[in-house]
Amino acid sequence: ESEDAWRDVDAYFVDMLLVEDEALTAARESGHKTTMPRAEVAPNQGKLLAMLCQISGAARVLEFGTLAGYSTIWLARAVGEHGHVTSLELEEQNAAVARANLARAGVSDVVDIIVGPAAQSARRLIEQGAQPFDFVFIDADKPSNPEYLRASLALTAPGSVIVIDNVVRNGAVTDPESTDDRVRGVRTVLADIARDPRLDATALQTVGFKGWDGFTIIRRTR
Ligand code: DHB
Ligand code: MG
Repeated sequence: ESEDAWRDVDAYFVDMLLVEDEALTAARESGHKTTMPRAEVAPNQGKLLAMLCQISGAARVLEFGTLAGYSTIWLARAVGEHGHVTSLELEEQNAAVARANLARAGVSDVVDIIVGPAAQSARRLIEQGAQPFDFVFIDADKPSNPEYLRASLALTAPGSVIVIDNVVRNGAVTDPESTDDRVRGVRTVLADIARDPRLDATALQTVGFKGWDGFTIIRRTR
């Protein structure tokens, strides 16, 4: 019964404070055409990402995990026409769904989707000497979180913000004996963050449309 109440409150907040236009709604609802239905961020989380970009003055955004491009649209609109979003997606099927959604949202010009294993795509960006990114959203396969953080550190400068989704997963994150590679990926990346003198971070639990989960917000100080 608490899950219903969480959803009701999310619906109330979204209804009260957010404008999700047709393009965002279509992107959210197109999740079923991807390889991972219903994994997109909730509308109020999408807007949080957008607001974090705006509050931090981000212009260049890197996203790990495009899926249908729902969060990508929030990020692209947040950085505006002078900004840019690079989004890394494993599956061509998902990238195709995302491209249509980005076009409908009018943000195709500011987004590049790179198809392939995200770690490999990130490595190529590093080799190409890509300009540093201001904001990174890590929301792809969870076992690779530590690798994605390392890549993010090679692709950002001091002052950047990194957000990692799904760090709670119904509380599984507190189990040091977990054999679930997704849980281990989260625990390892949190330990990596904690021991890195360049990084300052917090983590929050969330309830709502996506059940019980959470995210970590990292500030790169040097
Ligand atoms: C899953 C992945 C996500 O990024 C998410 O936000 C929710 C669920 C999943 O792997 O099921
Ligand atoms: Mg996620």
